[in-house]
Amino acid sequence: MIKRIAVLTSGGDAPGMNACIRAVVLTAAAYNIDVIGFHHGYNGLLEEDYQTLLPQHVQHIIQHGGTILKSARCKALYTEQGAIQAAEVLHKLQLDALVIIGGDGSFRGALAIAQHYSGQLIGVPGTIDNDVDGTDFTIGFATAIDTALDAIDKIRDTADAFERIFLVELMGRHSGYIALSAGIAAGAEQIICPEFGPVTKAQLAKLLVPIQHAQLLRGKSSYIMVVAENSYPGGTTALAEELSAELGTECRACILGHIQRGGKPVGADRILATKLGAYAVEQLVNGAHLMMAGEINQQAVLYPLTQTGERKKQIDPYLVRWQQQIASD
Ligand code: F6P
Repeated sequence: MIKRIAVLTSGGDAPGMNACIRAVVLTAAAYNIDVIGFHHGYNGLLEEDYQTLLPQHVQHIIQHGGTILKSARCKALYTEQGAIQAAEVLHKLQLDALVIIGGDGSFRGALAIAQHYSGQLIGVPGTIDNDVDGTDFTIGFATAIDTALDAIDKIRDTADAFERIFLVELMGRHSGYIALSAGIAAGAEQIICPEFGPVTKAQLAKLLVPIQHAQLLRGKSSYIMVVAENSYPGGTTALAEELSAELGTECRACILGHIQRGGKPVGADRILATKLGAYAVEQLVNGAHLMMAGEINQQAVLYPLTQTGERKKQIDPYLVRWQQQIASD
């Protein structure tokens, strides 16, 4: 029987993590389970840096971005010694289970700990990147899209006024989910994602042709290219410089960066976070171990942690096809 669990947030923070912590704590309270929260991801676990989490500690946090538990990436966990130490702390603190709110990298940490820990481990997908298999959406993705969209709309205003070409770089690590979604919603003329294959310097023409085509058709006007990070070898600023040289027209780069990780979670993220946090605790009570609590077709589901990073999750092929069609028309 589960009596005491811990929760931590790990890796890149994502809007909605607080809502998830709240759901974990409130659901655990309903089952008379004690909860502690480790600070700074796995670092807090290794350093025994934690706090008790009672329902009153998670009051009115649902609307806040970031994470009250703080987050971090933990290099020590990549070593055997780190995983052993983490398991020792979990045993010492008499924890029956650990809930890990994070992305695929954080789940790799959980798998390492599992080699030495006799309790249960469950993951909840929290990352703006939406690059975790076994769930339609990750906590934070919906908010990140809206944040990016708001920024691109503003860039469009100035791009229109100056009839300029802008390259807007969005996050996503190695996934084009944010770029494709925000690019489509912003009406970007071109979208570049890692999934479309690498753009080498030799292939710059591939990007130039649609711009030149648009210039021919519309004359001088604003043109927005959304570029997922890690799409071009030298980065988006280098890409803008090279396109400028080829076109003979100035192309401006705007790197949106960490603004995409902050802000109040939108409703969809608060609801998803609440559902998955609650479901994770319920499934721990039912005996779940080495699983991720995800949602597919609005149904909460368990998915093996070992498979969350297998990259089966594809960006929407319909939108990809449509975007490529309109970019070349
Ligand atoms: O995984 C979330 C994310 O924001 C990615 O989109 C991005 O590549 C990375 O984290 C940035 O990490 P850091 O905050 O360490 O620069």
